[in-house]
Amino acid sequence: MYYIGVDLGTSAVKLLLMDADGTILNIVSEKYPIFFPHPGWSEQNPTDWFDAVMKGIPELLDGHDPSKVAGISFGGQMHGLVVLDEDDNVIRPAILWNDGRTGKETDYLNDVIGKEKLSQYCANIAFAGFTAPKILWMKNNEPELFARIKKIMLPKDYIAYRLSGVHCTDVSDASGMLLFDVKNKCWSKEMCDICGISEDKLAKIFESYEVVGTLKPDIASALGLSADVKVIAGAGDNAAAAVGTGTVGDGMCNISLGTSGTIFISSNDFAVDRFNALHAFAHSDGHYHLMGCMLSAASCKSWFYEHILESDDYAALEGKITDDMLGRNNVYFLPYLMGERSPHNDPEARGLFVGMSMDSTRTDMVQAVMEGVTFAIRDSFEVAKSLGIKIDRTKIVGGGSKGLLPKKMMANVLGIKVDVPENEQGPSMGGAMLAAVGCGEYASVEEAAKKIVKVVETIEPDPEIAAHYEERYQKFKKIYPTVKGLYKDLNA
Ligand code: XUL
Repeated sequence: MYYIGVDLGTSAVKLLLMDADGTILNIVSEKYPIFFPHPGWSEQNPTDWFDAVMKGIPELLDGHDPSKVAGISFGGQMHGLVVLDEDDNVIRPAILWNDGRTGKETDYLNDVIGKEKLSQYCANIAFAGFTAPKILWMKNNEPELFARIKKIMLPKDYIAYRLSGVHCTDVSDASGMLLFDVKNKCWSKEMCDICGISEDKLAKIFESYEVVGTLKPDIASALGLSADVKVIAGAGDNAAAAVGTGTVGDGMCNISLGTSGTIFISSNDFAVDRFNALHAFAHSDGHYHLMGCMLSAASCKSWFYEHILESDDYAALEGKITDDMLGRNNVYFLPYLMGERSPHNDPEARGLFVGMSMDSTRTDMVQAVMEGVTFAIRDSFEVAKSLGIKIDRTKIVGGGSKGLLPKKMMANVLGIKVDVPENEQGPSMGGAMLAAVGCGEYASVEEAAKKIVKVVETIEPDPEIAAHYEERYQKFKKIYPTVKGLYKDLNA
């Protein structure tokens, strides 16, 4: 049988068709626009996502037997607020995971309700991109629209709803709402009260590999598929990417460099970061994970290369960075173009180049952008280490990790081995694998990962380069605390 994985990303939806053995039969991508109506705000139209999925699936199936498709599942951009009225119309554009408008609401939750209480209710504190502060923002700023809300959902769950008619979510994505009691895997009554919503506006909760329903007949016929095709709950994109790289079970690590950058540590047991810097979420394998998330990773490259340098030749720009330059760059870059989540939790933070002199080159700045992203991942890695978590190797996926150089930087900046999976599809592959598990092709997510995921290359840190990077990271670490106090004024 065949399985479809839908990676509902921030710049595009990526659809992947996989057979029962995990062989990828086809991949299709459809772009949609993103809107930044104010600095630090970020929105998309849920109907654009749905249209892209409906356009992409027939293209994906072109040349393949549609009657073999058994299931469809998802990896979706997390935290986004999608609100529907009583006629199922989208009330306002979705407010995305990297939107920083909720500074006031986040402060209210963390300082007035209190981090301790939030952590007790949901295992997490408030971050500007989480869903609950966005609901409060709507309540405070758009009361008429807020009053019309009948259903609240996350981005991928909007697609599942339109495909199956079931208002559903999964435990991994629900974890990022700050409305979900992660430990007990149920909605938090206290958080619903704090946000002024009733629980019936929230979705039914499933494990990521569970079947939520089947395709609605009209959707099935529009897609040329059988109405028996199962819709499986799916996962937040990071949990799905973790499945796609075999990061399941205890103590495994995956780094994803997409629009966001994340470090994801899987765990069999529930655990909370006592420093509240890493997110404590449910995983799509039925267990849990800790995760650090930076808001701008590959997007720093696209901003700097395409927008500033006006070049889309990434290979040419990065090709000038030779091994002898690694760990020796005097130019530094803070990658906080959309504010920062982990570990700083500062929506006011912004990007910064520092350390330039008359001999600094364009290549030094390109290198600084790549290194700034890698150093920022190390910031979250350091938090994990301080919790006593030992990580000696990681997988890596995402557009920002394409080519050898980003992987080499990561291995040397973190001082750990970097395993490269055979395919770097991440969330779409994970989505297809969750669909296969939901349809009974594999007994568990672990089994699917064991049978499907293969590592093709391991990049080891080079002691000399790693030592140079250690020294540079210690300098990088001092920049944000030094400029932090300026951001509020600069943004005012
Ligand atoms: C994770 C996060 C991002 C988005 C990107 O907490 O906000 O990784 O899921 O799609």
